[in-house]
Amino acid sequence: MKAILLAGGIGSRIWPLSQAVNKHLLPVFDKPMIYYPLTTLMLAGARDVVLISSKTHLFSFKTLLGDGSQWGLRIRYSVQEKPDGIPAAFSLVPADFLNEPVILMLGDNLLYGAGLGESLQERQNLDGALAFGYWVSNPSDYGVIDFNELGRPIKIREKPKDSKSNYAIPGLYFFDKSVYSKVGHLKPSLRGELEITDLLSAYMLESKLHIEILQRGTAWLDTGNARNLLSAGEFVRVIEERQGLKIGSPEEVALRLGMVDKEKFLANLHEMPSGEYRNYLEKLVF
Ligand code: TTP
Repeated sequence: MKAILLAGGIGSRIWPLSQAVNKHLLPVFDKPMIYYPLTTLMLAGARDVVLISSKTHLFSFKTLLGDGSQWGLRIRYSVQEKPDGIPAAFSLVPADFLNEPVILMLGDNLLYGAGLGESLQERQNLDGALAFGYWVSNPSDYGVIDFNELGRPIKIREKPKDSKSNYAIPGLYFFDKSVYSKVGHLKPSLRGELEITDLLSAYMLESKLHIEILQRGTAWLDTGNARNLLSAGEFVRVIEERQGLKIGSPEEVALRLGMVDKEKFLANLHEMPSGEYRNYLEKLVF
């Protein structure tokens, strides 16, 4: 399955942390932020990923993630010259992405919950688009879905001031191949960006937008401002220390999903300095 991982944007809410370092490389406890959405994509079945970011920062991503082969992935890179919106990413993908279904994930979103990996798989033959609904206390900070009395999505609004619905849409979306033609018809909003809510609305108009409500046991954290970044780090630390298991390790996910064999896994470990992360991974196979 093909996937787009978005790591561009300005990072205005977290400035000046994002001035010299791309926001998606900042630490969420013991790993760079981008590891979390990347491993969610791996769990969802993505094997061919294009990471999109600004020209200035692509070098750092390449240093961190390489070509992905160490984790049984293919990772390619594409430059977004200016942050002109999330759907703009669809015009920056390699040619072999066109006319295939695709998963899109925002690089500053962290999703974690029991059974999430399994429930994200098997979406390849989707007819339409799939997004998720997640109950939040502050819907006006997000894209929000209104449902009718039959539970069908009827309206999607970006950061509504007067939302009656508490269902926000996390930054993980599955699209069928018609996404590329739909994006071609989008017009920039008043803030001059192509909006993901408009893309989802285009599917809704054709009754092809599927919304799945995420269970209340699922954590969805948006790490885009300093307070949320700190809370996400605390969340990861608490779970990891309690369970002795790590969240968002691409090495571990690749091993568990059989994307690399034990030999390849160990070869990767030899490249790492000894320390807590390597010690943890060694314990998985010894
Ligand atoms: P936002 O949080 O909307 O934008 P941002 O990351 O620039 O942060 P701020 O609002 O503080 O300025 O972006 C959501 C995600 O999408 C984030 O991971 C960055 C990514 N993104 C792009 O890669 N390109 C874009 O053009 C936009 C708008 C966002």
